[in-house]
Amino acid sequence: MTTNMITNSQVLFAAHIATRQQQLEQALELSHYDELLIWSGAEITAFLDDYHYPFKPNPHFMAWLPLTHHAECWLQLRRGKKPVLYYYQPTDYWYAPPTDPESWWADHFEIKSISQPLPARQIVSGSHTAMIGEIEDRGGVGDVSYNPQSLLNQLHLGRTLKTDWEVACIAAANRLAAHAHNVARDAFFAGESEFEIDMSYCRAAGLQEHEMPYGSIVALNEHAATLHYQGKDRSSPQQRHAFLIDAGATYHGYAADITRTYTQESGVFSDLLSGMDELELRLAGAAVTGVDYRELHVQAHHQIADLLHQLGVLKVDAETAVAKGISSTFLPHGLGHYLGLQTHDVAGLIDNQGEDLPRPEGHPFLRLTRVLETGNVLTIEPGVYFIDSLLAKLKASENTGAVNWDLVDQLRPYGGIRVEDNIVVAEQDSRNLTREAFAEL
Ligand code: GLY
Ligand code: MN
Ligand code: MN
Repeated sequence: MTTNMITNSQVLFAAHIATRQQQLEQALELSHYDELLIWSGAEITAFLDDYHYPFKPNPHFMAWLPLTHHAECWLQLRRGKKPVLYYYQPTDYWYAPPTDPESWWADHFEIKSISQPLPARQIVSGSHTAMIGEIEDRGGVGDVSYNPQSLLNQLHLGRTLKTDWEVACIAAANRLAAHAHNVARDAFFAGESEFEIDMSYCRAAGLQEHEMPYGSIVALNEHAATLHYQGKDRSSPQQRHAFLIDAGATYHGYAADITRTYTQESGVFSDLLSGMDELELRLAGAAVTGVDYRELHVQAHHQIADLLHQLGVLKVDAETAVAKGISSTFLPHGLGHYLGLQTHDVAGLIDNQGEDLPRPEGHPFLRLTRVLETGNVLTIEPGVYFIDSLLAKLKASENTGAVNWDLVDQLRPYGGIRVEDNIVVAEQDSRNLTREAFAEL
């Protein structure tokens, strides 16, 4: 490749920065600031220790820059001016400092290398400056607004409309994760423990654990009934009824968030699994521009309750099960959430004016209540779980007669099912990045 050759990803990145600048200028105008400073953040040491927790930069910083482990940097943004990056490169022989900027991204910034953390007062140049980051005691500047909510809302709303660059990054993260998911599935069938499967997953994705977007959920049998199960058992259980893995990957800071569930046994659980896969695809296909995600979430409850009724787990029809809140025992989380630089990405619960959009009554964990727009990226992740504490509550309630408890007891050792894909919303055919990635393998 010649040095003059411009790759497609360079073109996408240039357009991404142009969009960011446009969104920024509009947001500054609306909130009456003439300058925004974004701090990437500082490393945090454990109490009474000199080792750091894994560092994650401020996501507003990463919204401009593919710098995923860079502390103590400042980004200075103004109307009509090229963004300035104060790039922290300490002289250090304990830790390797960040490498030199690479032209594909650095050409879009005026770069000022700094070898010491820089106080904000040495940067501020506007008369109305806003700062974003965990900076309460660092600015030392008088007339500055720290994390002003109205400006944050504007920028968060901008981040819900993914640029082509961002979609390409999330698609790339999906490809890394899909390959690793297949390796993890084979490791399950080969008899590996949760710990071993997790190692196999990380190796296949080419990522260290701290580079994952969230702690991978690697759950054999009833462990799948803990929604964010974090254990990684070293020993392999005798009986291997089912396996749920919710694990992602990152690419330039952008996340994939994928769940698959497997069993080798035939029977009701296996039928439930096929039914869940089919209904997940239906829901993913229905996530198009103009749809109220709250309605899609309620539809998911109806479809899952109907499946449970058909398979004999519920003795009442879907309508009754949803109306009485019985379906929430089996699906106690939301249908999904926005996805991007953060796994649970921003602005899922506000409208375009920044006003709160309430969750439907009885659905306290839904993370997305907006009407979908072209260019949103989100997850569709219906689940069915056999959670002892929630089942005990239902059993003790007036709705106990709605459930076939013998069948529920047979299903408890399988834990649960979740199927999760990542979707780019379009007017007609939304793009399923996850199914695409699996199909390419
Ligand atoms: N992996 C967390 C979630 O699916 O929301
Ligand atoms: Mn998710
Ligand atoms: Mn997930």
